[in-house]
Amino acid sequence: MSLIDKFTTDIGIDLGTCNTLVYVRGKGIVINEPSVVAVECGTKRVVAVGSAAKQMLWKTPDNITAKRPLKDGVIADMDLTEKMIKFFIQKVIPRYKLTRTRMKIGIPSCITEVERRAVMEAAVHAGAREVNVIQESLAAAIGAEIPIHEPAGHMVCDIGGGTTEISVISLSGMVVTRAIRLGGDEFDEAIIKYVRSVHNLVIGQQTAEKLKTEIGNAVPDKNIEKREIKGTDAITGLPRRLEIDSVEVREALKDPITQILDEIKLTLSTTPPELAADIVERGIVMTGGGSLLKGFPKLISKETGVPVILAEAPLDCVAIGAGKSFELEREISSDRSIYDMLNN
Ligand SMILES: Nc1ncnc2c1ncn2[C@@H]1O[C@H](COP(=O)(O)OP(=O)(O)OP(=O)(O)O)[C@@H](O)[C@H]1O
Ligand SMILES: [Mg+2]
Repeated sequence: MSLIDKFTTDIGIDLGTCNTLVYVRGKGIVINEPSVVAVECGTKRVVAVGSAAKQMLWKTPDNITAKRPLKDGVIADMDLTEKMIKFFIQKVIPRYKLTRTRMKIGIPSCITEVERRAVMEAAVHAGAREVNVIQESLAAAIGAEIPIHEPAGHMVCDIGGGTTEISVISLSGMVVTRAIRLGGDEFDEAIIKYVRSVHNLVIGQQTAEKLKTEIGNAVPDKNIEKREIKGTDAITGLPRRLEIDSVEVREALKDPITQILDEIKLTLSTTPPELAADIVERGIVMTGGGSLLKGFPKLISKETGVPVILAEAPLDCVAIGAGKSFELEREISSDRSIYDMLNN
């Protein structure tokens, strides 16, 4: 490691639709908070960021709004995104060190050039000296400790809140990538829609997410679980309770689950045969919060015939991988300098 590297702070950021994570070299994950900002309506003054702001979502008085600045993996509100990054960065990096900070931000591969520039701009305005981006699946693979530099096919499926990205990686590069703007948020939406159409009950996103994470299941389970939920009757407009079970939640999630399964199958079908053979042997690695849906890895394995492995810390992989990518780049550039010598 050079002297300059020694005095530089390398940080990896997973600027996610649902959660923002910051990894600092030598320290690990130092920020893990919901991507939510609460502002005062007239003045636009920020009153809360992260967990404190998430508690306010859909429960704010008229003069405050709590918003998620990202949607489907991309910036929906530039100003709020910038403020959110600034808040998290300044929480972990002292101001005097900012000029010696390098940032690598995980971005979905389906974003446009304009969206990519918006992410970089937001981070530059937050104060870092050097800002770069890395594709989310590549970062997820590094974070999941997949030996991506090998001349062998590795498949990663990252299911986030707003995006799902499936990639085949070999020799540190992406060979095949498919990304869709669908993730855990759509799972919540599907539950809201189901409860409304079958039970005439209007429920909020937090209630739907709780049902999904607590009793959601991608495959039938003989142990049927139940939860009581509360919402507003769609006809009378009055508050009402309802008991719902895991079979119904699975039924509600059928559509988004099928869409993700189809994308995985399509990615496999477009993978060169030699790499596909590696994947059959090594399995598909799942990352992202959506992969924590009970039974999802089992269902994907059953439907594709390929073993599926859930990463050790699925929610942390992108931030860890983005941060660690600096070390990998250093190794690659030292290899390259040897080849440059041979070629001169
Ligand atoms: N146990 C669980 N079961 C099902 N879903 C879960 C579970 N835990 C978290 N999730 C879902 O994971 C999603 C968040 O995952 P993650 O933090 O990886 O997304 P993100 O990185 O913020 O989004 P994106 O990558 O799309 O920008 C949310 O939709 C959340 O409800
Ligand atoms: Mg993500």
